Amino acid sequence: MTLNGRKILLGVTGGIAAYKTPELVRRLQEAGAEVRVVMSAGAEAFITPLTLQAVSGHRVRTHLLDPEAEAGMGHIELARWADDVLIAPATAQVIARLAHGFAADLLSTLALATEARIWIAPAMNRVMWDAEAVRENCRMLVSRGVKLVGPGVGDQACGEQGPGRMLDPDEIVAELGGSEPVLAGLRFVVTAGPTHEPIDPVRFLGNRSSGRMGFAVAEALAEAGARVDLVAGPVKLSTPPGVQRLDVTTASEMLEVVTARMENADGFVGVAAVADYRPESLADDKIKKSGQPLTLQLVENPDILATVARRRPKPFVVGFAAETRDLERAARGKLEAKGADLIAANRVGHDRGFDTEDNTLEVFGAERHWNLGSRAKRILARELVAIIAEQMQQDGNGKKQ
Ligand code: PMT
Repeated sequence: MTLNGRKILLGVTGGIAAYKTPELVRRLQEAGAEVRVVMSAGAEAFITPLTLQAVSGHRVRTHLLDPEAEAGMGHIELARWADDVLIAPATAQVIARLAHGFAADLLSTLALATEARIWIAPAMNRVMWDAEAVRENCRMLVSRGVKLVGPGVGDQACGEQGPGRMLDPDEIVAELGGSEPVLAGLRFVVTAGPTHEPIDPVRFLGNRSSGRMGFAVAEALAEAGARVDLVAGPVKLSTPPGVQRLDVTTASEMLEVVTARMENADGFVGVAAVADYRPESLADDKIKKSGQPLTLQLVENPDILATVARRRPKPFVVGFAAETRDLERAARGKLEAKGADLIAANRVGHDRGFDTEDNTLEVFGAERHWNLGSRAKRILARELVAIIAEQMQQDGNGKKQ
């Protein structure tokens, strides 16, 4: 991981995770970055400027209207100096200030005055992280190009469990460093989201897939240098940078687009929660209540993953397995039955796997097994892509002849 020569302005705000920032400064420096630190008033309740001054080797700035500090590197110069502004931990307060453009203190003013990339590593209680106001503020920031780093899932300082934990320093450094272009020159097709199988003009059979996991995989593949076609079911997500997106609705449409796009592809990752069945026929008009039980006749949909795995020359094929029990047995069964090279298995159920920011993944190959643990989907996606790259390299790079 290299951040060679990158000038990183670390903004520390008032969360308990501020205690991890001396280590974060060290990790950033070890990766080659030069780090300067700005602290909010709240941050000083958790850690002293002196500590961060000692590790960063530079005076730590805490106030906007500080005549002495402004006589040195003023806040506008600091904003210009930075290649990246990293706010870690980022509280709900600073996220709101950034989203709404408040120049309320030194850090929020710097964020407005900089042209550097801005990264925020949220850290807060899981209920706060889930609050609609926080989600909306984050969506706003992401749509303006701010990079969200985490949060992770796990034990929280308040004694609760769930998403909202600041990522570990190593994980944050990995996010800032991006990926090596280990898949440069290769083409991938990724499926994501649910499929909707129409019943009548207003109803469909579907599932709760949000597309987040599949979009994260597409993004991670693109970051690793691959050319990526993302075949997406009906989801409300913005397209990751550098990814070609093709929207579909039904499993049959997904198969058709995937088949066309696989002509030139070296790899396939099936993350979509494809409906296994569809209504045998589509009613022309809205089905009315009749006071009697209604029976829908369903027919099986084509299996996209298995169809792709039968192609010759064989692409590198990765499937997902969404299981409520017997994860390993089911994953190994799918690896064999569908002819995949890898199966990434996740437990699903209430608040698990589907429509969540985090996931828990285990990856199964014919001879190897990787436990990726519980993390943000974007981080898991990067780890999965690293495994794909390694396995493809072992198989002779996977480039189609
Ligand atoms: O979208 P999110 O909200 O982020 O949720 C992510 C997820 C839980 C949907 C994702 O992590 C996941 O598990 N995706 C696979 C869901 C699924 O359909 O699993 P399955 O066990 O039913 O299918 C196994 C594999 O076969 C999958 O790769 C699936 O894409 C593929 N398949 C299934 C049926 C079918 N007709 N065609 C297929 O290609």
